[in-house]
Amino acid sequence: MRVDVPLAKAYLLLNHGPVTLVSSRAGLRTDVMAAAWATPLDFDPPKVTVVIDRSTLTRELVEASREFALNIPPRRLADATLGVGSVSGRQSDKWSEFGLAAMPASRIGAPLVAECIAWLECRLLDEQAVEQRHDLFVAEVVAASADDRVFSGGRWHFGDAPLRRRRAVLLRRRAGRRPPPRQGVRATGRCTCGWSRAISLPGTCAH
Ligand SMILES: Cc1cc2nc3c(=O)[nH]c(=O)nc-3n(C[C@H](O)[C@H](O)[C@H](O)COP(=O)(O)O)c2cc1C
Repeated sequence: MRVDVPLAKAYLLLNHGPVTLVSSRAGLRTDVMAAAWATPLDFDPPKVTVVIDRSTLTRELVEASREFALNIPPRRLADATLGVGSVSGRQSDKWSEFGLAAMPASRIGAPLVAECIAWLECRLLDEQAVEQRHDLFVAEVVAASADDRVFSGGRWHFGDAPLRRRRAVLLRRRAGRRPPPRQGVRATGRCTCGWSRAISLPGTCAH
C-alpha cells in the first residue's frame, strides 16, 4: 500500500540513516556535531554541501575558520552520534563526554574524529549568500581518507561479497556468457589437452 507522507516529513524519505559528524575548530575551540543533511555536489573538484543550523556552536566555528571536516561514523558510534547531535558544545566538551578522540587533519585546522572510518577535509567556497539564506555550506573537499578495512580500491567493503558475485553473474549473462563455476565446485569441462572429465575448473586438469 502506498501512503501519503506529510510534506514536512518528505526529507526523511531521502535521509533515512547515514549521518556524518561535522568537526570544526576556530582558535583554541573545537567542536563536533551530527549532520544528516550532508550531500556530495560535484566530482572535480570534489564538492559537498552541509546544512549547519545558525543556533549551533559548529556554525560559529565554521563561519570563523571557513573550514570543517565530515567524519563518517561506523555503527558502533551510533550512541555517540546521537549524543553529539543532541547536546551543544556550548554546554559541554562533547569530545570527552562522548569518548571521541581528536586527531590532526592533513590539510585543514579542524580536527578529525579518530574513531570514524572515513574523513573529508573541506574548505568553504565563497557562497555566503547561500549560507545566510539557507544555512547551506558549500565546500571543496581538499583531502579525503578512509580506513582501508572498509574502503579500498575506490569502493566500500560492507561484507556484501554474495551480492557483488550475483551482480557479476548477471552482467556476464547479459553479455551472453555463462559464469564460470565457483572455485572448488566441480564441473565437467574439456581441458585444453582434449581430456574431457570432471575437473575443478575447465582448463585446469593436471595433464
Ligand atoms: C541524527 C542527527 C542528525 C542531525 N543533522 C543535522 C544537520 O544536518 N544539520 C544541523 O544543523 N543539525 C543537525 N543535527 C542537530 C545538531 O547535531 C545539534 O543541533 C547539535 O547539538 C549542534 O551541536 P553544536 O552546538 O555543538 O554545534 C542533527 C542531530 C542528529 C541527532
